Amino acid sequence: MYRRDKKEDFYTKLSKKEGYPARSVYKLQEIDEKYKIIKKGDKVLDLGSAPGSWLIYVSKKIGDKGKVIGVDLKDIENINRKNISFIKKNIFELNSSDFKGKFQVVLSDLAPKTCGLKFIDSGKSLELSEKALEIVRLCLILKGNFVCKIFEGESSQDFFEKIKKYFDFVKRFRTKASNKESKEFYIIARGFKY
Ligand SMILES: C[S@@+](CC[C@H](N)C(=O)[O-])C[C@H]1O[C@@H](n2cnc3c(N)ncnc32)[C@H](O)[C@@H]1O
Repeated sequence: MYRRDKKEDFYTKLSKKEGYPARSVYKLQEIDEKYKIIKKGDKVLDLGSAPGSWLIYVSKKIGDKGKVIGVDLKDIENINRKNISFIKKNIFELNSSDFKGKFQVVLSDLAPKTCGLKFIDSGKSLELSEKALEIVRLCLILKGNFVCKIFEGESSQDFFEKIKKYFDFVKRFRTKASNKESKEFYIIARGFKY
């Protein structure tokens, strides 16, 4: 318990110091540094983007010529950066008119409200991940990249196997900033092949 608190505290303090609204930014940073997901000028879709720390990280990485669009049920913090836009919406109600054109990268840090029962929480996480994959199949460019959080559960391995059909490179990854007790892991998928 002590060790977990210390680790959480470290990332929370660091995020405050560096001006990010959530500690989860260090998960994306670690993934991006290791797997080279996002590059300058990219157009990025960020599903489950509130309070907005991934949006800020991506905004800095893509620069002025890039664009990042966040989608969430909840509002994001007041972030004043030109290359960020935000759609307040349930991802299950997204439609093609919500954004024009295709994306080089789709990120999903979507997480359901948890109840503590593993099979229920992982089932809801799977539903969100399945929807994220559906969106990816509609709007990711050929050779594009996808990062998807999912909770470990009965069918998460099946979902992982399914993703392999659509990408050249697929890997499971657990970030250092993930809580020790958390069942989350990330699926890193590079090279979309339709
Ligand atoms: C872990 S948080 C994302 C944190 C974010 N990556 C950041 O760095 O600030 C997960 C988000 O998923 C959102 N979410 C869950 N279900 C959703 C849905 N059906 N549609 C849109 N957003 C959803 C939640 O509202 C929550 O803000």
